[in-house]
Amino acid sequence: MSKEAQYGLILRQLTALLEGEEDGIAKMANVAAVLHGSFGFWWTGFYRVAGEELILGPFQGPVACMHIPFGKGVCGTAWKRNASVVVPDVEQFPGHIACSSASRSEIVVPVHGPDGGVTAVLDIDSDRLAIFDETDRIWLEKVVTLL
Ligand code: SME
Repeated sequence: MSKEAQYGLILRQLTALLEGEEDGIAKMANVAAVLHGSFGFWWTGFYRVAGEELILGPFQGPVACMHIPFGKGVCGTAWKRNASVVVPDVEQFPGHIACSSASRSEIVVPVHGPDGGVTAVLDIDSDRLAIFDETDRIWLEKVVTLL
């Protein structure tokens, strides 16, 4: 199955799963579980905006750092830019925060609240180089609108 087709199925599955649910944490937890289980990523989860930092939210995978300052790392950069960041090789990203030495590539997608501000970021890490591309960015940006 192509990556597009797989994301299409996931989007339909998540739309049904999250329908009627109002708790943001519960929704993030199931989004992380579905994405992680479907693609076999190394780490899949959320960091929530709390004041001037991001705090670890629901995730699947190994333990991760719990606080990330505004503008720091890939997650803090995506928050600051209010835009998705695709990193083919984490060693080439200045300021990348290495929660795990196994992480090789990464994508971070901002989650928006009703007023358009960033309320969280979706962070996905792979243990393989250059796993994420425009297809992932486009579909993951659709996925986070369900939150
Ligand atoms: N690598 C991220 C930190 C979070 S972990 O990958 C789960 C970053 O640079 O923001």
